[in-house]
Amino acid sequence: MPSYPTYKCPICCAKLSRVNGSYQCENRHNFDIAKEGYVNLVPVQNKKSKQPGDSDAMLKSRQRFLDAGYYSRLRSCIHERIAAASAGSTFIDIGCGDGYYSEGLNLMFSSTSACDIAKTAVRLSAKRLPNTQCSVASAYSLPYFNHSFSYGLSVFSPICEHEFRRVLQEGGRILVVGPGDTHLQQLAAQIYTEVTPHRGNFAVIENSGLWTETWRQELRYSITVQNTEIEDLLKMTPYYWSAAKEKQMALAEMTMLETMVHFEIREFRVS
Ligand SMILES: C[S@@+](CC[C@H](N)C(=O)[O-])C[C@H]1O[C@@H](n2cnc3c(N)ncnc32)[C@H](O)[C@@H]1O
Ligand SMILES: [Zn+2]
Repeated sequence: MPSYPTYKCPICCAKLSRVNGSYQCENRHNFDIAKEGYVNLVPVQNKKSKQPGDSDAMLKSRQRFLDAGYYSRLRSCIHERIAAASAGSTFIDIGCGDGYYSEGLNLMFSSTSACDIAKTAVRLSAKRLPNTQCSVASAYSLPYFNHSFSYGLSVFSPICEHEFRRVLQEGGRILVVGPGDTHLQQLAAQIYTEVTPHRGNFAVIENSGLWTETWRQELRYSITVQNTEIEDLLKMTPYYWSAAKEKQMALAEMTMLETMVHFEIREFRVS
């Protein structure tokens, strides 16, 4: 069993220790470990909605779409960079979704951790990621002490720049993936007459002035999505929230959609 970074109690900030089937702090705050092995570290009083993060339907769609292999080139690219980066020993995926991009990374680090605000995402991750410490937690309030990790990953997920910086060790790095200008261009064209590219979460890193870019790659290729996978793809994107009902129905009736996918993959070091 790897030795994982210690959890910090989300209520009183004391150290959490494993006691039988739960994590407990010295002030007797208790967090049960689910049968899949993850722990929910978002206290009810801190929840901003009943079901925060991606919904179960979105997560299931994401899992089906990713497992069909459309983004496997992106996963390979992420893994190749991490293998080449001398990335240290302790890794965390923040906003991990169903864990697709972190699968296999436990073989490259002494310890791997993953968190997401959506409980279903963490349950799916706990099943997909063996020997990985999985928790329900917010990127805006990570249940870890300062300098716990040498390398972090954020794929299409919200970034809290100062929280990321706090939990990273000196010289620690993060790999951030966001959409390039032409990402899902043809899917977007089915929904809007004018398409404004979505800029991802690089801005919070760049605007802080506290990170140095250490590596960058763009990945761009075309995919042909079939039948129900078109709807799955739509549900994975922010377009799902804004697409008019009739556009969603028209997409659901399509049998084939060819679209560009375009990823920006950038690595930053804490300056
Ligand atoms: C677009 S999905 C990406 C998931 C995964 N990284 C992937 O690419 O397959 C964004 C994820 O961020 C999670 N999320 C949203 N707000 C969050 C927060 N404040 N803290 C942690 N995760 C959050 C969602 O539940 C969702 O799983
Ligand atoms: Zn406590």
